[in-house]
Amino acid sequence: MNQKYWDELAENFNERVFEIADNELNQALATTIKKLGKQSRTAGDFACGAGGTTAALAAHFEQVIAVDYAAKLLQQACKRVKGDNIRFVEVDLTKNKSTAIKVDVGFCINALIHPVAKKRKRIAATVFRSLNQGGKAVFIAPSLESYLRTYQVLAEYLVSAGKNRKKTVRKISATAQKEIFSLVEGIADVGAVATKHYLHDEFAQFLEGI
Ligand SMILES: C[S@@+](CC[C@H](N)C(=O)[O-])C[C@H]1O[C@@H](n2cnc3c(N)ncnc32)[C@H](O)[C@@H]1O
Repeated sequence: MNQKYWDELAENFNERVFEIADNELNQALATTIKKLGKQSRTAGDFACGAGGTTAALAAHFEQVIAVDYAAKLLQQACKRVKGDNIRFVEVDLTKNKSTAIKVDVGFCINALIHPVAKKRKRIAATVFRSLNQGGKAVFIAPSLESYLRTYQVLAEYLVSAGKNRKKTVRKISATAQKEIFSLVEGIADVGAVATKHYLHDEFAQFLEGI
């Protein structure tokens, strides 16, 4: 999961990668963006990808800085989101002092997913370092609870459709064993790629620690 990996996903990014801003059912991110846009002037979209969140930010903040290290994704974002109030910057967020950017609110959506803990920590630290005094940060990351719950929901569905419970559970457990690379570390398969997932408490503690 490096720069090349992300650049190779650039074509049809929004069909190949789940973009929360375009797909959320409860509008939690949209509502948060709207609320913070009324209180603050500048926003950073850290690891902006193809600009799914950038578009929403540009509509509610005076200035938006969208950052990513994948050049092709930045190009996609640039084409997709037009506006005088957006600046696109190519930066590796794991690099120390990687950005002189300062914003009132930092958004970091589904970017703390690398299986290597050090890389995740560095990205989160860069986001915090980029905040003006009194600034706020919004982080979204994949949920381990949701990942595990999927197996239960599938099992319940199949049993309710008439399948044998014991056999069904055994089959789904075997799939889970293949798909969850490390239960302890919350590393699980997403599109054949090892992806970090967080327990709710774990994520709060992780961010507090940084
Ligand atoms: C799952 S995508 C999320 C994109 C976008 N935030 C969204 O919600 O649609 C993860 C993004 O993180 C970016 N990324 C990962 N590591 C990075 C790093 N070290 N520096 C900058 N961008 C990084 C990738 O290039 C990719 O665009």
